[in-house]
Amino acid sequence: MNYIGIDLGTSACKLLLVDEAGAIVNEVTHEYPLSFPHPGWSEQKPEDWWDAVVTGVPELLQGFDANAVAGIGSGGQMHGLVALDAADHVIRPAILWNDGRTFKEVDYLNNTIGKDKLSALTANIAFAGFNAPKLLWMRENEPENFGRIAKIMLPKDYLTYKLTGIHACDYSDASGMLLLDVQHKCWSKEMLEICGVSESQMPKLFESFEVVGALTKEAAQALGLPESVKVVAGAGDNAAAAVGEGVVRNGRAFTTIGTSGVVYAHSDEIRIDPAGRVHTFCCAVPGAWHVMGVTQAAGLSLRWLRDNVCTKETNEAKEKGVDPYEIMCAEAGKTPVGADRLIYLPYLMGERTPHLDPDCRGAFVGLSALHTRAHMIRAVLEGVCYSLNDCLSVLSEMGVVTDDMKVCGGGGKSEFWRQMLADVYGIPVSTVESDEGPSLGAAILAMVGAGIYGDVCEACETVFRTKETVTPDMNRGKEYRKFYGVYDALYGHLKDDFGALAKL
Ligand code: XUL
Repeated sequence: MNYIGIDLGTSACKLLLVDEAGAIVNEVTHEYPLSFPHPGWSEQKPEDWWDAVVTGVPELLQGFDANAVAGIGSGGQMHGLVALDAADHVIRPAILWNDGRTFKEVDYLNNTIGKDKLSALTANIAFAGFNAPKLLWMRENEPENFGRIAKIMLPKDYLTYKLTGIHACDYSDASGMLLLDVQHKCWSKEMLEICGVSESQMPKLFESFEVVGALTKEAAQALGLPESVKVVAGAGDNAAAAVGEGVVRNGRAFTTIGTSGVVYAHSDEIRIDPAGRVHTFCCAVPGAWHVMGVTQAAGLSLRWLRDNVCTKETNEAKEKGVDPYEIMCAEAGKTPVGADRLIYLPYLMGERTPHLDPDCRGAFVGLSALHTRAHMIRAVLEGVCYSLNDCLSVLSEMGVVTDDMKVCGGGGKSEFWRQMLADVYGIPVSTVESDEGPSLGAAILAMVGAGIYGDVCEACETVFRTKETVTPDMNRGKEYRKFYGVYDALYGHLKDDFGALAKL
């Protein structure tokens, strides 16, 4: 039998068709728009996500037997607020993970309710992208919409609802709402009360591998699949990627360089950073958690540079029929470590780890007349690595150690960027053979739900093979550390100026 793994990303929905041994037999990707209706806002239409699935699944199945599909699992962008009315219609566009409109509500939650209380109730503190502050924002700014909410859910749960007709959520994704008691795995009554919502408005909670239900007749018809297909609860994209990378035991960790950057480590015990610089969420392995630091604009920084500065590289890539990032990395490789004293701060969308500051912004520091686009590219690649290193440092401070760091996401495919990451971290980083992260993880969860594997860890041990390991170059590492020291100090120097700019 075959299984479908869905990764509902921020820019596109990726669909994988996977066999029982975890081999990928087909894949399809559909993009959808992302809208920024005001500075700092970020929204998407849940209907566009479902359209991508309805168009994508029949394409994915072309040439394959639809009756051989036994299960579907979804992983997806976390924290998006999807609100449905009593007729299960979407009330307003989803407010996404990278939306920064809730700074007032975050301030109220962290400073009036208090970080200690939030941490005791949910194991986390408030961030602009989380759902609790978004609910407070909606109550204050869109009272009519707020009053119509019958169900609240996360992006991939909207797909689960469209597939099964059931309002469900798994523990890993629910952890990022600031409404879940992450330690005891239940909705926090106090947090729901603070946000003015009731438990009946929340989806039912499941383990990631648990079967939520089978396809509805309408979904089966729309997708060209039998109604017998079982849909599992799935996971937030990072917890799904952990399954997809085999990061399901203590000591294992991964770094994702996608739109955002993530440093994720598995932990059999719950561990909480008292300063709230990293998140503590449930993972897709029952009875375990993960700690995770987030860089808001990792791949996004390079994409911004590509789209706004690197026209020459983009045109050259078109002519040669290659990926523009390949040309950009080759150019960056011609410049020395430290980009001739040019440092980039990747705070295009504010920053989570370690600064927890939605107002800080990107910067090139040290720009001189000798610098070229190649230096700027290198500085961006380095700045993102430094920011990911900030995340790793917080995890080390918390006693979460790793001797097994995987790297995934679009940025992880670049050999140049991977080597830079290993040099900056000072530890080896590896890729896995089927480097599909969340979509493969979601398909594996569907297989576990169908009983093909006894549990998530057994599935991972069977499916995963390390592909390539890059070891750090100690000399370059020493050089990088000098520049990292300056990078590290810059935020403190600029913090007040970022705040003043935000107020203008
Ligand atoms: C995690 C986070 C991002 C999103 C988008 O907290 O905000 O990783 O899930 O991918």
